[in-house]
Amino acid sequence: MDKLTLIQPDDWHLHVRNGEMLKAVIAHTASQFARAIIMPNLKPPVTTVEQALNYRSDIVQALPNHTSFNPLMTLYLTDTTSKDDVKKAAVSEHIHAFKLYPAGATTNSDSGVSNPKAIYPILETMEQVDIPLLIHGEVTDNECDIFDREKIFVESSLNDIVQNFPNLRIVVEHVTTKEAVDFVLASPNKVAATITPQHLLFNRNAILAGGIRPHYYCLPIIKREHHRQALLKAATSGNPKFFLGTDSAPHLSGAKENSCGCAGCYSAYAALELYAEAFEQVNALDKLEGFASFFGADFYQLPRNTKTITLQKQNWTIPDNYIVDNETITPLKAGEVLNWKLIN
Ligand code: NCD
Ligand code: ZN
Repeated sequence: MDKLTLIQPDDWHLHVRNGEMLKAVIAHTASQFARAIIMPNLKPPVTTVEQALNYRSDIVQALPNHTSFNPLMTLYLTDTTSKDDVKKAAVSEHIHAFKLYPAGATTNSDSGVSNPKAIYPILETMEQVDIPLLIHGEVTDNECDIFDREKIFVESSLNDIVQNFPNLRIVVEHVTTKEAVDFVLASPNKVAATITPQHLLFNRNAILAGGIRPHYYCLPIIKREHHRQALLKAATSGNPKFFLGTDSAPHLSGAKENSCGCAGCYSAYAALELYAEAFEQVNALDKLEGFASFFGADFYQLPRNTKTITLQKQNWTIPDNYIVDNETITPLKAGEVLNWKLIN
């Protein structure tokens, strides 16, 4: 097979930042995807409908001409999110979910939720108005080993949320462990998960073996090989609970190549090609369309796209960097060869 035509996919977990960074990255996503769920972890975070609509206008302004890309906005849950905020979000055509970051779990999460239990009344309202909850599933306890933080969150918080709110639609974002995959599989259909290209393609050796490679560092951190195998199996199973979310999260090269480098991999420049490479490894290219183009739309109760895109088998070398103003972003797999290319 040297060509693969799919209904145009959507990216159900994306960071595009603002200012010059937004201008540098948005065309990459718009050239691949029809829609994307935009993460609200700006500084300061996007917590109100008004802020989200302003942010959406900035994104639309930054798009190249003649694209119909549709940014789907989310709001950042804090300890002070009100029931009124939830009700307003639910009636806005552009707001599609709330994002729960445990406070301190990842990049720009300082204003996140300090104790998930304390916001249960808010989750109850979300359940009533039927707006999805997107969860960064990691505990933030400093004593907890970084490789165990997702697993412990699943046991300590996620299970309880799912049990208490049987009708709340939940996406466990960027699952990285077999435990999280098993949890999603065992949960009711209201619980789904996104999977990133880096967690399908790499295990933790990519970050740490033979030298430290900061461009493979993201959160939740990439785990051992048996977890990667569990993720690949889930993504290529045809189970609609698992769908595409790149978690493409650009940082300036200098902020990553640093004595305390930022978490986040930049994959938007070739997101589909990276997923195609992962699916091809397990002879499952026939499962890519469901994962990339159908299951997320169905979960969010949005229409499936109708246009198509085509990937062609073709070697090309990923640039060493992309320019932002006078600085650069280093993409995932910089300087390496990819063997699929989007041709339209
Ligand atoms: C994300 C970012 O940089 O905003 N970083 C990451 O490592 N994934 C935040 C997040 O989604 O955790
Ligand atoms: Zn993210």
